[in-house]
Amino acid sequence: MSYSYMSHLYCPKCSKTYSADEENHLCTCGSPLLVDYKLEELSKVFSPDNLVKRQPDLWRYHELLPVKEEENKVSLGEGMTPLIKCPSLGTNMDIPNLLMKDEGVIPTGAFKARGAAVGVSKAKELGVKELAMPTNGNAGAAWSLYAARAGMSSTIVMPIDAPSITRNECALSGANLYLVNGLISDAGKIVGKASAEKGLYDVSTLKEPYRIEGKKTMGLEIAEQLNWEFPDVILYPTGGGVGLIGIYKALKELQQLGWVSPEQKLPRLVAVQSEGCAPIVEAWKEGKHESAFWENSETIAFGINVPKAIGDFLVLDALYETDGCAVAVNDDDLLKEQKWIAELEGSFVCPEGAAAFLAARQLRQEGWIQANEQVVVLNTGAGIKYPDTVDIEVPTLEPGDSL
Ligand SMILES: Cc1ncc(COP(=O)(O)O)c(C=O)c1O
Ligand SMILES: [Zn+2]
Repeated sequence: MSYSYMSHLYCPKCSKTYSADEENHLCTCGSPLLVDYKLEELSKVFSPDNLVKRQPDLWRYHELLPVKEEENKVSLGEGMTPLIKCPSLGTNMDIPNLLMKDEGVIPTGAFKARGAAVGVSKAKELGVKELAMPTNGNAGAAWSLYAARAGMSSTIVMPIDAPSITRNECALSGANLYLVNGLISDAGKIVGKASAEKGLYDVSTLKEPYRIEGKKTMGLEIAEQLNWEFPDVILYPTGGGVGLIGIYKALKELQQLGWVSPEQKLPRLVAVQSEGCAPIVEAWKEGKHESAFWENSETIAFGINVPKAIGDFLVLDALYETDGCAVAVNDDDLLKEQKWIAELEGSFVCPEGAAAFLAARQLRQEGWIQANEQVVVLNTGAGIKYPDTVDIEVPTLEPGDSL
């Protein structure tokens, strides 16, 4: 059996195909490229039983990943994060079967480690020596650390307001780090220009086809953890939307492999955004297949502050094709939700994760989610990476004081 069953890259817009063995970024038509696998061939030799003895990390699905030689794998043990029950919060929201896929416990503290592990490994396989990316913080942290592990250098550009801990992670990894007095879209333009001029490998969201393959493993894991059954609903905090596109891709690949029964309906996918930056929500409300640039975007959930996503049409297609929806939540309310989750479940989730839980609460109130449905919420990172979002007053004692 081959280590990877990747066959080629293809364009989801114009169907043009590209080789998997050389550097490719966008299609000539401007669309992101996606990875195709020899699924029919694989389905004959690969079954869930093959997974039983494998390590509990995302490389357990290596046949469905693009890295062809195991020796190119760059790993910090990422993946197979817990899918945990949230009974108290579920009762509180009237969703008794509420589950959290907790990406807060992965290396680098955010799900970005998945995209970085697979993306950096594939870059190594392609002979890349220096990569460059714009980031809202977590992705830059993950990619620069994985690049360091691979012996590659990295150039990272992030907004000056990005969480300071992610800045420290990049700096500590030895990355060439720059702050931009603007948004991720401004950082993207700077990286695009530098990559063209200096020949850096541009790994901006979806300008590199392999990050999505790493993120796809969240979908594979959810299905495996539910014993190859799909939940009814999956909620995902959506910025560039790579995680959501990846989860959708994973679920479709599992169907094609025949690992879930064909009668099973795909989960309804929900893209969660903040009221301060909701281009996908606006487009979805209007039934559009592309979003418009969101002017003056602002949200405390920094990872989902993406005014225009290059893969917006893929996110929207995934919502339409699964009868899903897109929801915008309020920043003040998501901070309250973050506190509820810590109080009721003992989990300190990131603001983006809190946004997704709040969306579940809202959709239950509106009746879009039924009380008997199984609902999976993605907590995409650890709350401890965002200490400044918590505003508390604590009584201070002098030695010898009593309580
Ligand atoms: C914690 C967190 N959640 C969600 C997102 C959004 O990810 P995606 O690009 O997959 O939509 C990000 C991106 O920076 C993030 O850091
Ligand atoms: Zn194309």
